[in-house]
Amino acid sequence: MSDLIIGELEGAGQQRLADALRALPPEQADRLALQVASIDLSLVTRLVDQLVTSPEPPGLPHVGPAEVDRLPTDDAGRARRRMAFEAGEQALRDGRVAVVLLAGGQGTRLGFDHPKGMFPVGPISNASLFEIHAAGVGATRRRYGCDLPWYLMTSDGNDAETRAFFDQHFLFGLEPESVTQFVQGMLPAVDRGTGDILREAPDRLALSPDGHGGIFRAMGHAAILGDLEERGIDVIMTMQVDNPLMRPADPEFIGCHVLARAEMSTLVVAKSGPDDRMGVMATVDGRTALVEYTDLPAELEAARDDAGGLLYWAGSTGVHCQDRAFATRLATGQAPLPFHRADKTVATVDGDVSAVKFEAFMFDALPLAARTATVEMARDERFAPVKNSEGADSPATCRAAMVDRAARWLQQQGATVPRGDDGASLHPIEIDARYAQDAADLAGRVPSDLVVDAPLLLRD
Ligand code: UTP
Repeated sequence: MSDLIIGELEGAGQQRLADALRALPPEQADRLALQVASIDLSLVTRLVDQLVTSPEPPGLPHVGPAEVDRLPTDDAGRARRRMAFEAGEQALRDGRVAVVLLAGGQGTRLGFDHPKGMFPVGPISNASLFEIHAAGVGATRRRYGCDLPWYLMTSDGNDAETRAFFDQHFLFGLEPESVTQFVQGMLPAVDRGTGDILREAPDRLALSPDGHGGIFRAMGHAAILGDLEERGIDVIMTMQVDNPLMRPADPEFIGCHVLARAEMSTLVVAKSGPDDRMGVMATVDGRTALVEYTDLPAELEAARDDAGGLLYWAGSTGVHCQDRAFATRLATGQAPLPFHRADKTVATVDGDVSAVKFEAFMFDALPLAARTATVEMARDERFAPVKNSEGADSPATCRAAMVDRAARWLQQQGATVPRGDDGASLHPIEIDARYAQDAADLAGRVPSDLVVDAPLLLRD
């Protein structure tokens, strides 16, 4: 085994790793050889060439504002969204929808020592992110009498712990045949100067997940796309593990996607201001695309339209719908996603090394789609991610947003929610998705003389 791999490494210009493999005692050499065999060496060779040793200078694309299906402001707009909601409900009833939760990231910024989905975020219940998403999936299944298969994408570093967590909680009451976990691919970090593949231990490569764009290849490898085809599913909704406000299989978003006959759709919310660190939707050389906040030139970031609003206001929530046939084209490499380089310091057997990691991003599929839809939803209803341990996008801001949304839903049904000077509810409120998934679900369930004068947890 090792000899074969040594030959392949030498052929790929990875002499240093080949020498290291040759020098290892047999048992360790086998372990390392096995790991090398598990990575796509020809892809790594191409990435080193394109992105490390002879990177092409980026072109100067023409960037323009995106066309967005805006939040309705009049009766006609509200009627159109109502129609979309009903179309989404019909797609669910017809069993055309699956949900994929992206949970393969390393969650570096949060600094939580477990898979991010295990993070306890429920303001009163302390429910984990995983449980909150599972509750939404279960509630949707019951409501529409559909299977709604749920797929969780993990990566090597968090797969086993995620599986154990779900087992420990009996899949949060979901039927085992409709919850499927699959693992995304890994790619090695390489030396920034030489392109040499790095090792974190003598017999272990320095590997990391290949980015959320790895989903397409991973779904292909795990035979998920074929499974979806057999089940008659043509709408795949993908969502991020760290946003508990997102409604799995959101009928309104799915309906907008279906009615637009889009191959890929993006759920956006308004940026809070020019400095909000969200990727924005735009057109790049005439095609729908996402521009990361680090790539948006300062003059575009601050650009305003005639009415004084931000021109690039549509922040991506990272939530998409894709057509199954389109996802299959991406999975089979007919429309390959580009990779990006991320410069990081990596701890290796030879000490800390200035390295390059490679990642693919799901949103890079947008310009490849024949037709896209970009759908705005209310930020305070749909977006409060847990990214950092404190400050913006932290557990504290996320819990506050969960409480605020619950308070608003109750007020819409006539309840009184005492609020402090900062406008926040004086008492924590939490509504489990199995109890209600929007304000309308609370109709008739909340006494109009309800005053929230103590912590309130609504769940069945
Ligand atoms: P982020 O880009 O926020 O990354 O992922 P992260 O891993 O959660 O956090 P940091 O950047 O290390 O602090 C957005 C979503 O995409 C998933 C994450 O799990 C999250 O749901 N993701 C990210 C993957 O599934 N795989 C990846 O390789 C990267």
